[in-house]
Amino acid sequence: MTVKKLLAATAAMLVVVAGSAFASPVNDAIAERIKPVGSVCMAGDPCASESGVAAVAVASGPRSGEAVYNQFCTACHSIGVLGAPKTGDDAAWQERLAAAGSIEALTTSAINGVRAMPARGTCADCSDEEILASIKHMSGL
Ligand code: HEC
Repeated sequence: MTVKKLLAATAAMLVVVAGSAFASPVNDAIAERIKPVGSVCMAGDPCASESGVAAVAVASGPRSGEAVYNQFCTACHSIGVLGAPKTGDDAAWQERLAAAGSIEALTTSAINGVRAMPARGTCADCSDEEILASIKHMSGL
């Protein structure tokens, strides 16, 4: 083998080595830069667990009445702020129930707000069911 041929072979090998060593990160970087800005990721897809979609989906399930109460209602209802019926005060809640007519009616008034009682007890993203569950939790009705 001549020196010239040897050099050519070495150069060719270097190109191959360089190509395999750098092609992948460069391609990845390019793929990253040209990927679509938004992509749809459904809960259950492999991408969902990477991006936290699955965690969000789980967290957005119905919360227990106790959880909602502890986060939103306790501030006023534990000590009766501004005349709020107190948690566990059976007499007060029976009076409310009698005045409203049903627990559904009480729930509607909690959803809409009544006098100093803010709409949905400040839990803006609470579902109607979550409001009902938290009322049951604090009233024992
Ligand atoms: C900022 C204070 C405050 C918070 C927070 C609050 N409440 Fe109240 N709530 C009141 C007051 C005050 C009343 C009494 C209103 C009245 O009858 O004048 C009341 C009354 C109620 C009633 C009775 C309504 C009726 O028609 O008699 C229900 C049911 C109720 N609240 C549910 C909830 C629930 C459920 C939450 C949490 C998700 C909550 N409240 C959070 C202040 C609050």
